[in-house]
Amino acid sequence: MPVKRVLITGASSGLGREMALQLAREGCRLALTGRREDRLQETAAAVRAAGGEALALLGDVGDHACVLRHYALVKEKLGGLDWAVMNAGVSKSGSALKGYHAADFRLVYESNVFGLVNWIEAVLPDMLAAGAGTIAGIASVAGFRGLPRSGPYSSSKAAAIAILESLRVDLRGTGVKVVIVCPGFIRTPLTDKWKSEDMPFLMEPEEAAKKSLAGIRAGRRLVHFPWVFSAAVRYGVRNLPGFLYDRIAGGATKRRPK
Ligand SMILES: NC(=O)c1ccc[n+]([C@@H]2O[C@H](COP(=O)([O-])OP(=O)(O)OC[C@H]3O[C@@H](n4cnc5c(N)ncnc54)[C@H](OP(=O)(O)O)[C@@H]3O)[C@@H](O)[C@H]2O)c1
Repeated sequence: MPVKRVLITGASSGLGREMALQLAREGCRLALTGRREDRLQETAAAVRAAGGEALALLGDVGDHACVLRHYALVKEKLGGLDWAVMNAGVSKSGSALKGYHAADFRLVYESNVFGLVNWIEAVLPDMLAAGAGTIAGIASVAGFRGLPRSGPYSSSKAAAIAILESLRVDLRGTGVKVVIVCPGFIRTPLTDKWKSEDMPFLMEPEEAAKKSLAGIRAGRRLVHFPWVFSAAVRYGVRNLPGFLYDRIAGGATKRRPK
């Protein structure tokens, strides 16, 4: 496989860090973003130690000007990108009955939605001009339906799926691929605060990164895993009539501690 130039946003921990390490072992040239300098530099050092090249880009994916600056640096140092993997994301959960705040949505959308579209805006013109490249977005199984106690996160991932799907159709025939990745639960800092009994089919980041990268490499339209869980949500739960979904999902919410 030729050495690839890959952007991974949100590479300072969790899935992004693990994808970076796995690509580093293949000798890839990586541009890595994140806001925590110490964690980002640690990932960059681990990437170099694993045989890859790392360009650490400190900043917020929700900041449009910062993303454009970062992409200019990527072009200068790597000459462009073969893959852009938009992985950066945050989560905010809690029942609407415990307080409903537009600010929670704004916070989550800045990373999960605007972080995605800011980077698409930056990389798309050059990929279109080259007639090649892959844009991959890490969405979530949580985007398949409005999950209880998860309004900001679940809706942000539904938006990410729709944004990427719309883009994929628009880009048909251009040579630029769009891959939507929808993982189930992964053990990362994002899920640290949740109880394992609330996370069925919990995966380790190594496995999730492997599956994500395999799907991106294959240029699949939609990559979802672990299969039993994600297929149950995508083909089962998603198609339940509203009255049944409310009962089942509402019941699960009631059983959980507030
Ligand atoms: N864990 C799961 O169960 C699960 C399941 C499905 C999908 N996902 C998705 O997988 C992706 C990675 O999450 P994770 O589980 O690996 O959690 P994580 O360890 O918390 O990683 C999130 C990464 O995103 C970065 N990030 C967040 N907001 C950012 C911003 N505004 N600007 C720049 N970087 C930002 C964080 O870096 P800084 O804090 O340093 O900025 C961090 O590197 C997310 O999109 C998440 O929604 C996770």
